[in-house]
Amino acid sequence: MSYLPNPNRYKNMSYRRCGKSGLMLPAVSLGLWHNFGAIDSLENARTILRLAFDSGITHFDLANNYGPPAGSAEETFGEIFKSDFKNYRDELIISTKAGWGMWEGPYGDWGSKKYLVASLDQSLKRMGLDYVDIFYHHRPDPETPLEETMGALDLIVRQGKALYVGISSYSASETEAAIAILNRLGTPCLIHQPKYSMFDRWIEGGLLDVLGNKGVGCIPFSPLAQGLLTNKYLQGIPAGSRAASHRGNGAIEEDAITEEKIAKVVKLNELALKRGQDLAQMALSWILKDDRITSVLIGVSKPEQVIDSIKCLENISFSADELNAINNILR
Ligand SMILES: NC(=O)c1ccc[n+]([C@@H]2O[C@H](COP(=O)([O-])OP(=O)(O)OC[C@H]3O[C@@H](n4cnc5c(N)ncnc54)[C@H](OP(=O)(O)O)[C@@H]3O)[C@@H](O)[C@H]2O)c1
Repeated sequence: MSYLPNPNRYKNMSYRRCGKSGLMLPAVSLGLWHNFGAIDSLENARTILRLAFDSGITHFDLANNYGPPAGSAEETFGEIFKSDFKNYRDELIISTKAGWGMWEGPYGDWGSKKYLVASLDQSLKRMGLDYVDIFYHHRPDPETPLEETMGALDLIVRQGKALYVGISSYSASETEAAIAILNRLGTPCLIHQPKYSMFDRWIEGGLLDVLGNKGVGCIPFSPLAQGLLTNKYLQGIPAGSRAASHRGNGAIEEDAITEEKIAKVVKLNELALKRGQDLAQMALSWILKDDRITSVLIGVSKPEQVIDSIKCLENISFSADELNAINNILR
């Protein structure tokens, strides 16, 4: 059936400025790392994307290697884009990335200009797009000169294949260096995509300060620690969950669901309930409380999770007592 978006889709979402740029991103964005591959249900993917857009989520995040198999999440997205979203291209911010191993030989991995330019061309074909809104270098490359990698991002923007560029998983000092080079080239760094959740707070050790000071946006990935920061694993590992599914490509495995982690999850869950939230909602609100964060980048396996997670926006402020209690649990 042809898709007509919800006419009220912009009413309940908030949009936050991405650093010092002109671009606004929804406070909650949707990533297609898992559950959108060729091994997954196309109809479930379609239902999730429609529901997200109907809820005001204007930003979908991809990468060349999402699937499995690698490339297939972009193909799934391309198919659904063509049938459902083609007429709404100007209401969407679509990102992709290159930086992890994608094809054989010396030109399908890391950060050379050869790899980045070729990979984006492939991504555009898979998605059926003329351009992406944001193109990221997916991880730092210790061997390629940063000038070359940033030069490739600048070239891609000048070629009209991306409107903005970003970096992912760069340390605070690597980020400062990348920002300086991109500024010199005249293609400012729009955004950084780091891993960040209550269980992984590395960006509080300098990166967030760099981004805040330089006016670069921040969109944390795996904000629910891939599902650990929800009530999903409280009674063991349910069938169909990401940890039970052995999807590979960095997906959480059963051995990450330790007793120590679950003991913390139980306490966090109690605190969330006192705030009138479920744990997934509190974990997302906790990230959004900092105004240096532009958007929180969620993943979902089911449409209901979009509806549930987005309710985090109903309460993103924390009292000092709540923050102390969370810090004590996480210690
Ligand atoms: N730049 C990078 O290097 C990088 C790396 C990883 C991810 N990312 C990006 O970040 C996005 C999000 O990462 P992620 O998928 O790991 O995020 P996440 O939000 O931490 O985890 C998503 C998983 O949590 C569970 N979940 C989500 N909402 C829930 C809810 N309301 N209640 C209960 N369970 C819920 C689902 O698990 P089940 O599947 O078990 O139901 C879902 O698949 C990716 O899609 C990708 O775009 C980027």
